[in-house]
Amino acid sequence: MLLFWWWAVPQVKPSSTRLTFCTERHVPKLGVMLVGWGGNNGTTVTAAVLANKLGLTWMTKVGQKRANYYGSLLQASTVCLGNGPTGEVYIPFCDLLPMVHPNDIVFDGWDISSLNLADAMRRAQVLDWPLQEQLRPHMEGMKPRPGVDKVIVLWTANTERFCDVTPGVNDTAKSLLQAIESDREVSPSTLFAVASILEGCPYINGSPQNTFVPGAIELATQRQVFIAGDDFKSGQTKLKSVLVDFLVSSGIKPVSIVSYNHLGNNDGHNLSAPAQFRSKEVSKSNVVDDMVHSNPVLFGPGEQPDHCVVIKYVPYVGDSKRALDEYTSEIALGGTNTIVIHNVCEDSLLAAPIILDLVVLAELCQRIWVGIEGEGDPQPLHSVLACVGLPPQNHMQLEYKTQQPWGCAKRAHPASNTMWPASPKKPAPHLNGFVCPMESNGHLDAKSPRLGLQN
Ligand SMILES: NC(=O)c1ccc[n+]([C@@H]2O[C@H](COP(=O)([O-])OP(=O)(O)OC[C@H]3O[C@@H](n4cnc5c(N)ncnc54)[C@H](O)[C@@H]3O)[C@@H](O)[C@H]2O)c1
Repeated sequence: MLLFWWWAVPQVKPSSTRLTFCTERHVPKLGVMLVGWGGNNGTTVTAAVLANKLGLTWMTKVGQKRANYYGSLLQASTVCLGNGPTGEVYIPFCDLLPMVHPNDIVFDGWDISSLNLADAMRRAQVLDWPLQEQLRPHMEGMKPRPGVDKVIVLWTANTERFCDVTPGVNDTAKSLLQAIESDREVSPSTLFAVASILEGCPYINGSPQNTFVPGAIELATQRQVFIAGDDFKSGQTKLKSVLVDFLVSSGIKPVSIVSYNHLGNNDGHNLSAPAQFRSKEVSKSNVVDDMVHSNPVLFGPGEQPDHCVVIKYVPYVGDSKRALDEYTSEIALGGTNTIVIHNVCEDSLLAAPIILDLVVLAELCQRIWVGIEGEGDPQPLHSVLACVGLPPQNHMQLEYKTQQPWGCAKRAHPASNTMWPASPKKPAPHLNGFVCPMESNGHLDAKSPRLGLQN
């Protein structure tokens, strides 16, 4: 049996390709248009940028607080450059390449609620009152602003229900455009995506629904406009990605993952509707699926951990979402390891820095080209932006993240006309690890569209 398994393992030959990366160093004045600007995330990210720009401080019962960008990968984390004479040298991530600073971003956007941003911030109940008082004069008259070089559109509006992928409606770029022309039902988030793509503006989706139907992806690819994102994954889902990765990579086999959430903001209210909850459930399940697929030593074909997600609306806790998780794993010789976590996530304060990272990185990616040395002009990155999801310690899959199938051309892979060969474990592969939407039960066979910006 062991021998059979050994022979079934694919044989690989190392090959090397020299890539040249070019980054345009001029940093533009960036505008970000938020769909759902008046929501908890929209007001919090706008307030965070204003508070930092104005250097605000405010008193709380535990002392003075100062505006900062904690929680932002780019603004509050460092990167090791290597070893210097006095040991390892770390620099702020945002100093690695010329990037937009969040303080310089101009916000604008849409909302079906007519509240001004100051009133919407008050409704959100996220920020301390003395901070809100200082921000109110800056936010109550917020209107669209002209004078930016580039615009990025980001969906932070309500979670929608999953939409069906229907031939002739949204399966190709042509059918999607025709469906919009002829007033067929198209999700609002997909409508915004199509409008952004047609305007040449990158579009980032922060909610879990399948905004990027195949027609939207095809349109973005044809027009070479960046699209990205599938749920911000700021709290419980982020922890779940890290923890399941840690367990499976350590050779420990998770067999049961049970997650309860309760939250009391408008997002919680919206997610208490079964169809919208379903979108969230699938998004939360996907992070487990990826790790399980990666380890056939622990998980045989079709084997999967039991995975249960419950979300309840409890108005009292507001934006302070509670997540209770139990991870049960099999360890050596029939042993069991159980990890129980109680995670209190201040939802919008976790999401706001991620929103900033996403827009800054999307803008930076527009200024990067990559090409094989000596083989023609460098190309832009692929329209489906997924680089942010790369594991930091290994670059072997970089070949999947560019417009050209460089790495693939060298493979003994059956010549397919798909540019992006995907894991043999995953049916119906698409771009950059994107899989075609299918009905799912929230378990291992859950195949929802996933774009790489997992946070
Ligand atoms: N930590 C987090 O906050 C987090 C993490 C992951 C995902 N998300 C997702 O981010 C989204 C926003 O979260 P939130 O807490 O800010 O929600 P929210 O309910 O406070 O805000 C959503 C806003 O969108 C507006 N809206 C709804 N439909 C619209 C449309 N078609 N066009 C324009 N505006 C529209 C609403 O009026 C509301 O102001 C949700 O989908 C949520 O699931 C949030």
